[in-house]
Amino acid sequence: MLQPDLTYQLLRNLTSPVVAITSARGGKENGMISDAAVRASIVPTVPRLSVYIHKFNYSHDMVFETGRFGLHLLHTKQFDIVRRLGFFSGRDQDKLAGIPHHTGKLGVPVLDECFAHFECSVANVMDTGSSTLFLGDVVTVEYRRAASLEPRGELLTATYFRTNMPAEWRSEYEAKLQDAQRFAAELSRQIKPIVWKRS
Ligand SMILES: Cc1cc2nc3c(=O)[nH]c(=O)nc-3n(C[C@H](O)[C@H](O)[C@H](O)COP(=O)(O)O)c2cc1C
Repeated sequence: MLQPDLTYQLLRNLTSPVVAITSARGGKENGMISDAAVRASIVPTVPRLSVYIHKFNYSHDMVFETGRFGLHLLHTKQFDIVRRLGFFSGRDQDKLAGIPHHTGKLGVPVLDECFAHFECSVANVMDTGSSTLFLGDVVTVEYRRAASLEPRGELLTATYFRTNMPAEWRSEYEAKLQDAQRFAAELSRQIKPIVWKRS
């Protein structure tokens, strides 16, 4: 018999580091947070990664329509970026205002401060009903060297974030997660085949 709560807790072992996903469309820039990004190629000369983005997020359509995104690994000291990009929607505000960034080679915003970043071109997608899995060809990569990384901490993992987020954020985080779970529950079984047109 499936125990949903236990199953969900065990599945949390499969979350990725906390990453910031950026996108740009029609002069508008945006960013969001994900903990569902993984390496998707073992071939060093064909670097790929994948990430699940829920359809209710503003970023979803921006990435789907442009076929491009930036993915940033963060430092443990960058909690403020997680709250800013991950607790609010870019539909309502310019979330990147005040976060130092520049435009990358693919035209997506690149955060100046992060552990490392990748710019990706979407190679394929898979519909999950409530989200889309984007397979990205890594087109550019940059790693911030250890000297600059030192004052900012180590790689930010999902477990580290959940364990150490400021106490006053927790109820907001849990409420947002529950909203997302309700939405995803309604759509999760409506999986559609998609043929990705390469840009
Ligand atoms: C720790 C954390 C992990 C998250 N993981 C995901 C994820 O894997 N996929 C996703 O679509 N949203 C995820 N979110 C939620 C989005 O970041 C959030 O809904 C954001 O407000 C979307 O912004 P947008 O509407 O501007 O795109 C996560 C949020 C946090 C704080």
